[in-house]
Amino acid sequence: MSNYISITNKINNFKKIIKVSSDKSMSIRSVLLASQAIGTSKISNLLESEDVLNTLKTIKRLGIFYKKIGNTYYIKGFGLNGFDINKETTIDAGNSGTLARLILGLLVRSKFKVKLIGDKSLSRRDFSRVIKPLRQFGANIKCKKGLLPIEILGTNFLRPITYDENIGSAQVKSCIIFSALNTPGITTIRSKSSRNHTELMLKYLNYPIKVKSIKGFDKISIKGLSQFNAFRYNVPGDISSAAFFIVLTLLSKNSQIIIQNVNLNKTRTGIIEILNRMGSEIKLKKMKKFNGELIGNIHVKSIKKLVAINCPSKLNSSAIDEFLIIFLVAAKARGISKFKNLGEMNKKESKRLDLGIRFLKLIGIKVTRIRNNINIHGNPNLILTNKFEIKNFLKDHRIFFLSCITALTLGGKWKINDKDSINTSFPDFLKILKLVGAKFN
Ligand code: S3P
Repeated sequence: MSNYISITNKINNFKKIIKVSSDKSMSIRSVLLASQAIGTSKISNLLESEDVLNTLKTIKRLGIFYKKIGNTYYIKGFGLNGFDINKETTIDAGNSGTLARLILGLLVRSKFKVKLIGDKSLSRRDFSRVIKPLRQFGANIKCKKGLLPIEILGTNFLRPITYDENIGSAQVKSCIIFSALNTPGITTIRSKSSRNHTELMLKYLNYPIKVKSIKGFDKISIKGLSQFNAFRYNVPGDISSAAFFIVLTLLSKNSQIIIQNVNLNKTRTGIIEILNRMGSEIKLKKMKKFNGELIGNIHVKSIKKLVAINCPSKLNSSAIDEFLIIFLVAAKARGISKFKNLGEMNKKESKRLDLGIRFLKLIGIKVTRIRNNINIHGNPNLILTNKFEIKNFLKDHRIFFLSCITALTLGGKWKINDKDSINTSFPDFLKILKLVGAKFN
């Protein structure tokens, strides 16, 4: 089967109610925490994307049993450090930075050496950001230049640490929290604000963790070696997947969409704030707390007059995976949009800042860049008629989604390669696009 799609028609106006795939961050965390709980946890609506399937494969390699019945995964844990291996083991995180970074925190006491590998994209990503704090705990890690492969062998001489996490990376923060679970005493992290699913999940499990938020930073303290019991969890929709349908609707004519049951945690809704500042009228409705997280429905309608934004960088972390699609809105907005300090985008599955700029230039948008700050010169009259081919983007799923939404809203004749990249985070993407009315081959 061919691994590309062709789009040659814009989408017609639509009025739909949809659900998107479950949240990737929450799926990975719930599986990893279930592997450390005592007893059988039951997780419903788990995202069945490659990153999460690799998480399930990883815990299985580490001796944790699971099965799926109906819509629910049953995962049987043996408590903290309850991985059951009796020889050196290799685990493959595939494309997932989240899995790779978080699992290291759970292996600091492993009885046998574990080797961590990943795919081409993951093998060029930086792990020194987690190796540094893990070594401070006393972890035994072998690694060259901060890159995979990494070997980790557990130690019984772990000590709690105090750590300043200044990147604003939830993966780094969560890796430290996972290592702290395995370490006697109280670990303290002062962390630049980032998605807080790990903290909320541990609170939901009644784990002794405290969080105080002060001016864009969280002070987190975790008491190590407290066991926790198996739990039930239900994963809501992923706002990072919803993002593409939000923008599809905004940039289409006379259209409306309701996206149901999406995680609306404040640390994830930066895109809503940014787009509403640009003139969209996105509304969040039926909000409720569930499993310690805020969920609800997103209501979006087409907007003719979008305006440029001077985006405050304090919103960067809560929209970090959404900037590519936000750039597309900036491309259609009146005026010059300004985004600052986006260096972290280049540390993702591909160098997303560089590729995002290249993409905007390809569709005829002027972009100026000084270091990691960019200005996007919007053109509300932008219409595409040329031929475009998108290839060689390290199979970055979000570049694929961006290309599809651009083709469906701005026109042009598109060939978009690496269709299978959708399986990383949003396997139902094309099915839902079709349901909304998109035509493609
Ligand atoms: C994630 C955190 C973010 C995000 C990634 C998922 C997580 O990465 O980009 O897609 O689940 O913790 P960083 O923590 O490196 O910013």
